[in-house]
Amino acid sequence: MLKSIPFNRTLAYQKLLAHFETVQTAQIKDLFQEDPARFEQFSLRFEDILLDYSKNRITGETRRLLLELAQECELSDAIGKLFSGDKINATEDRAVLHVALRNRSNTPIDVDGEDVMPLVNGVLEKARVFSEKVISGDWKGYSGKAITDVVNIGIGGSDLGPVMVTEALKAYKNHLNLHFVSNVDGTHIAETLKGLDPETTLFLIASKTFTTQETMANAHSARDWFLKSAADESAVAKHFVALSTNAKEVAKFGIDTNNMFEFWDWVGGRYSLWSAIGLSIILSIGFDNFVQLLEGAHAMDNHFRETPFEQNIPVILALVGIWYNNFFGAESHVILPYDQYLHRFAAYFQQGDMESNGKYVSRGGEKVDYQTGPIIWGEPGTNGQHAFYQLIHQGTKLIPADFIAPAISHNPLGDHHKMLLSNFFAQTEALMNGKSREEVIAEFEAKGVSPEVYEPLVAFKVFEGNRPTNSILVKEVTPRTLGSLIAAYEHKIFVQGVIWNIYSFDQWGVELGKQLASKIYPELQGSEAVSSHDGSTNGLINAYKAWR
Ligand code: F6P
Repeated sequence: MLKSIPFNRTLAYQKLLAHFETVQTAQIKDLFQEDPARFEQFSLRFEDILLDYSKNRITGETRRLLLELAQECELSDAIGKLFSGDKINATEDRAVLHVALRNRSNTPIDVDGEDVMPLVNGVLEKARVFSEKVISGDWKGYSGKAITDVVNIGIGGSDLGPVMVTEALKAYKNHLNLHFVSNVDGTHIAETLKGLDPETTLFLIASKTFTTQETMANAHSARDWFLKSAADESAVAKHFVALSTNAKEVAKFGIDTNNMFEFWDWVGGRYSLWSAIGLSIILSIGFDNFVQLLEGAHAMDNHFRETPFEQNIPVILALVGIWYNNFFGAESHVILPYDQYLHRFAAYFQQGDMESNGKYVSRGGEKVDYQTGPIIWGEPGTNGQHAFYQLIHQGTKLIPADFIAPAISHNPLGDHHKMLLSNFFAQTEALMNGKSREEVIAEFEAKGVSPEVYEPLVAFKVFEGNRPTNSILVKEVTPRTLGSLIAAYEHKIFVQGVIWNIYSFDQWGVELGKQLASKIYPELQGSEAVSSHDGSTNGLINAYKAWR
């Protein structure tokens, strides 16, 4: 169990509040003037990853006090508990062991007195054997043909991670066509199945609980579609496998439990891409590349566990985030990958972060009186520049940003990559430096524009600047580097949850909507008017019934 330590009653928090008064108006560009070694002072390297956090509104003293906050919130103790299988997910009475799934050094990790590593390695081996058969064409469908298409049916953590990673590592892809169906909207499965051949399609039903409404509805529709052509239930065994913790429900659905790839309740849904849920990733890029992904994550786990906080990438990312969230009042955090392959990275961490730290009840069971998890959003650059950067540059909100880019592109086409990276570098510089009134006027004058013409326009063309950014430059998006990067963000979320004194590994907030939907679902069957809800909900349901 993690202790309850009220974040904003700590001494370090009080010191940070006082410190904030003295630095809140500091200009980042001035901090660079004052300290020529600022880049070296505020950047970290881990293998092929460079984190530059020097373009932030922080000084050495800010960092010192934030590190004090981490100590006072007993972060070291929490990290020890995470890695040793302590039941830190207290509201569900579960350990939190995604780190065991990528524990490549195989040191024993016990849950309830049992080492989980043999279980982890057993499922990995089963996945290796299965994936090699499917990729090589040895695994045959019911009519004797090899598999060409794989459809992963899952939602939330059983979809977002596999989608993000298979997209991010497309450069490593084999011949299999991967498809992902998540939404209960029939359009998603209907459009996906169009053009697929049941004889050569493999379905992965990915659900930790195997009870999630959306996934079960899509899985049943997929099976109905399949049986229209197969005409024989026994063919299901060659075309449906389950990725789940729930053998009973898997069997009930009609999947042979020999075709089940197991994981365990100590794997959180949004931390499950490293588990059997990653089978679609394995099928897409091959087992060896998946192992590289695990290796990268394990290396980051070791870095997180062993590195002093001052040089610890996840800890620094977390503390800088807390500085904006709790002292500057920033409400959101934007993730901007300058890499098309990482186009689902922000969406993935939207669940990772918001489902983990979107909590208002402290570990002590009280409502907190401070801000917890930020709103996470983002799109890849340069597309975002032509959509929402206007607001980041000149809007009224402070939006801390993470820029992520690879130095080496998998597609070195002409000068595209140089253009892409020039935008990445330029944006972080522009956000920091802004453009002064004097600079705007000088630009007008250089073009020979007269003061009567430019004067009314100057205010609109000024950029205040001082907008904070982290830059994460990686050598190349490889399976190993991606594994490290994902693990770094996972641990950042964990550190923030520890310091905010919340439980990051449950998700009770998703339950109420599910409960009400299951109550409303039968009410949508008949044609009679509904009157059991509030006026708005009744009105909407009845309008739907009249129209359909
Ligand atoms: O959205 C709630 C949630 O429980 C997520 O945490 C989880 O990733 C998702 O639903 C899917 O759950 P399951 O894998 O059990 O189908």
